[in-house]
Amino acid sequence: MIDILIEPHVNKIVMPDNLKVGLMIAEQRKKCASGGCNEEYYGLGFGQSPFHVPPSLVNALAESANQGHYSAAEGILELRQAIAGFNKRHFGFDVDPNRIVVGPGTKDLINTLINIIKGGVIIPSPSWIGYRPQIILTDKHFHTLHLKPEHNYRIQPEDLDEFVSKIEGEQHMLILNNPHNPTGIVYSKKELEKIAEVCRKHNILVLADEIYALDTYDMNNFTSMGLVYPEGSFITNGLSKDRSAGGYRLGSCVLPTTSTEKLQKDFKKVAATVYTNVSTPTQYAAIKAYEQNDEIDDYINITRQIHRIMGHYLSDEWNKVDGIKATRPDGAFYFFADFNELKPDLKKKGVATSNQLGESLLSCPHHLGTVTGDACMLEPDDYGARIAFVDYDGKKTFENYKKNPPKSSSDEIEFVKQNAPMMVKSTDSLRGWIDFIKQA
Ligand SMILES: Cc1ncc(COP(=O)(O)O)c(C=O)c1O
Repeated sequence: MIDILIEPHVNKIVMPDNLKVGLMIAEQRKKCASGGCNEEYYGLGFGQSPFHVPPSLVNALAESANQGHYSAAEGILELRQAIAGFNKRHFGFDVDPNRIVVGPGTKDLINTLINIIKGGVIIPSPSWIGYRPQIILTDKHFHTLHLKPEHNYRIQPEDLDEFVSKIEGEQHMLILNNPHNPTGIVYSKKELEKIAEVCRKHNILVLADEIYALDTYDMNNFTSMGLVYPEGSFITNGLSKDRSAGGYRLGSCVLPTTSTEKLQKDFKKVAATVYTNVSTPTQYAAIKAYEQNDEIDDYINITRQIHRIMGHYLSDEWNKVDGIKATRPDGAFYFFADFNELKPDLKKKGVATSNQLGESLLSCPHHLGTVTGDACMLEPDDYGARIAFVDYDGKKTFENYKKNPPKSSSDEIEFVKQNAPMMVKSTDSLRGWIDFIKQA
């Protein structure tokens, strides 16, 4: 019998939220099935676009299947040129393709960045779970900047200024995820400018995770850090969210305007060491997804409207429930629900931590799959949950929207009822769960 030993740092990271929630739901389902329970499950945990991959991208992938050769570690030039054009068209900034690196999803690019860039990382919390485990795996320091509900979870430049004045080290990198997973908030240009001012003052780099940029419901409200802080921002984006191709594993990172040839080479060196290149057929296909293409533009417009309709409906409904305060998203497909008003009842019921809040919401017969606790980087007694509003048949909903787009707010409510009945029912289940929590 071989005893396989694992490096101790692996034990320090938690299971990614998608796997954790998936496993928890699978386990709960098994328990329910053996107990004869037939209650439905509400999939508010997993943050995946519910829509189909745009057909022109699917066709382009099929047509590129013969590109079997290895390619440049940083990505093929034609794709990097297309990404530069995309940034100009959608976000209004010029970027030399030499400053663009393509990687297998932004997750991997973020990992590469954390490996390359010296110093600690500042993570605002609540946050997407992906950052912290990567930082722990590299044995780096991270600093948690707690965002406050009274500020609608927005970074306050004064707080950031005070926070970074107290931390030591010659360089830090702030993670600025905009639109923000898990709250759905979107920063205004003015707010970003003030944050950039603080970053300039303290020599802070920004990892601008803009993976949900084109999922901003009103694009007039979105400004890329590429316009505001080009000299200090690493901007990541990719195909996973607005083009619903998470499984294609393709993302890009725009390096700061001040990046030297050495930094560009270092990035390529690490990319070549770790993954060599993103699948070459995927890269050729992705050119189609980045070049001007009416079908994809329409697709992005329609899907962002559907996200808005679903997000506003569900967050408004959850806000009507006593004990819950939910953010109203302006982008992405999440909102954040604060359960702290229920803290005394939760404690009495034995729900001692925010991790246990997730377990309780999922328990029979409530079956609400959410992401809570460590997965959002919350303190143990900060009861909050990320709600992903993607529990519906994306393809069908997309076709229905195209045939008959809702024209008024009452049409929009009807649209949700017709297309996302499980999300509508989730609020009843939430009310049932609260009654249960409040029972003496
Ligand atoms: C905020 C955020 N950043 C990055 C990612 C990872 O995206 P990718 O599929 O490009 O690795 C996700 C995916 O859930 C995310 O929510």
